[in-house]
Amino acid sequence: MVLYAGDGATSAELDDLKARYKRPTAIPFPEAAPYSPQLATLGKMLFFDPRLSGKQNLSCASCHNPSFGFEVPVAGAIGATNTPLGRKAPTVLNAAWIPTLFWDGRAPDLETQAMGPITADAEMDGKFPEIIARLKGTPEYAAWFAKLFPGKGVTQEAILTAIATYERTVVSGWAPFDRWVDGDEAAMAPAAQRGFALFNGKAGCAGCHTGWNFTDNQFHDLGLPTKDIGRAAFEPDAPLARHAFKTPGLRNLTYRAPFGHAGQFANLESIVDFYETGGIVRPSKSPLMKPLRLAPEERADLIAVLRSLTAEQTRTALPNLPN
Ligand code: HEC
Ligand code: HEC
Repeated sequence: MVLYAGDGATSAELDDLKARYKRPTAIPFPEAAPYSPQLATLGKMLFFDPRLSGKQNLSCASCHNPSFGFEVPVAGAIGATNTPLGRKAPTVLNAAWIPTLFWDGRAPDLETQAMGPITADAEMDGKFPEIIARLKGTPEYAAWFAKLFPGKGVTQEAILTAIATYERTVVSGWAPFDRWVDGDEAAMAPAAQRGFALFNGKAGCAGCHTGWNFTDNQFHDLGLPTKDIGRAAFEPDAPLARHAFKTPGLRNLTYRAPFGHAGQFANLESIVDFYETGGIVRPSKSPLMKPLRLAPEERADLIAVLRSLTAEQTRTALPNLPN
C-alpha cells in the first residue's frame, strides 16, 4: 500500500501526511477510572512494589523497567519460576491508547491485563487475598486506599484501577520526529525525512504502523518462523489470525531492544533485513508482507526515521514505598 509518493509529492500532500502523525493533546482516561494525581501516585507505588508477588521479589517494574523503555533487555523476561517467558515483555509506554493488551490481544483493558502477571505462576505468582492482607497491614497503604476508594479500601479492583491509572500516565516524550511534524524543519535530519517518505511509501511500513504511536493495534502474521500461534488462540477460525501478533508501537525503540514478540531481533538492522525478505510464504501471512528491495542508503534512511521516534531519556523517580 503506497500512501505517499516521496519525491513526487507536493508539500500539501506532505502536510496532510504529517497531520496523521500529530501527537494527541490529552490522555484518554476511561469514565470508570478518571485521572487523579493521587490515584496515579498510588498506582506507581504498586507498579514498583515487589509485595504484589508471591515471594515478594518481583514487581511490574522487574519486567517493565523505565530505563529500557518500560521493557527489559532480554528476549524472555525471567519470572517467579526462574525460567524465561516465551514472549518478550512489551512496553507499557502509551498503553492508554492501546485498545487490547498482550501480543495476542487477550485483555480488553489495562485493569484486566494487570491481573494476569500478578497471579500467573510463571510471572509474579501472587494471590490476591495475601496481597490485600499485606497492603491492609501497611498503615500508609491502608490510608491511601481508604481515602481514594471510600467505603471500599484495599480491594482487588482498587489495586488494579490504581495500577492501570498510573500506566495511562506513562507517555513517550517529544522526539525529533514530533518537533518536525509540528513544523520545525531542522528538528529531524534529512536522512530521517527521506526515511519517513519510504516508511509511508515504497517500504509499506505505514500499512500497519500508523498514527502518532505507529500502530494500527491490529494483528498480523508477518511470516516469522515461530511455533507460537498468537491471535489464533482466540480467533481459531480467522484465516489470518494464525501466528498473528499485535503491531507494536515504534516509540522509544532505542531503549527497547531486542524486538518482536519473542525478542527475536537483536537490533533495528536485523528487523529491516527481515522485512526485505517478505517473510515465509504461508496462508495466514498478511497480504501487506511482500519482499522489498532497498538500496543501502534507503536502508540507512529507514533506520534513521525509526531512531528519530525516540525521545530523550526522561528521569523516572523511584517511589518510596510505605512500610
Ligand atoms: C516476569 C515478567 C513480567 C512481570 C513481572 C510483569 N510483566 Fe507485564 N508483560 C510481560 C510479558 C512477557 C508480556 C507479554 C505477554 C503476552 O503477550 O502473552 C507482558 C505484557 C504486559 C502488558 C501489555 C502491553 C501491550 O502492549 O499489550 C502490560 C500493560 C503489562 N504487561 C503490564 C504489567 C503490569 C501492570 C505488571 C505488574 C502487575 C506486569 N506487567 C508484570 C512480562 C511481565
Ligand atoms: C503487515 C503489518 C506490518 C507491516 C507492513 C510492517 N510491520 Fe513492523 N511489525 C508488525 C508486527 C505484527 C510486529 C510484531 C512482530 C512479531 O510478531 O514479533 C512488528 C514489529 C516491528 C518492530 C519491532 C517493534 C517492537 O517493539 O518490538 C519494528 C521496529 C518494526 N516492526 C518496523 C517496521 C518497518 C520499518 C516496516 C516497513 C519496512 C514494518 N515494520 C512493516 C506489523 C507490520
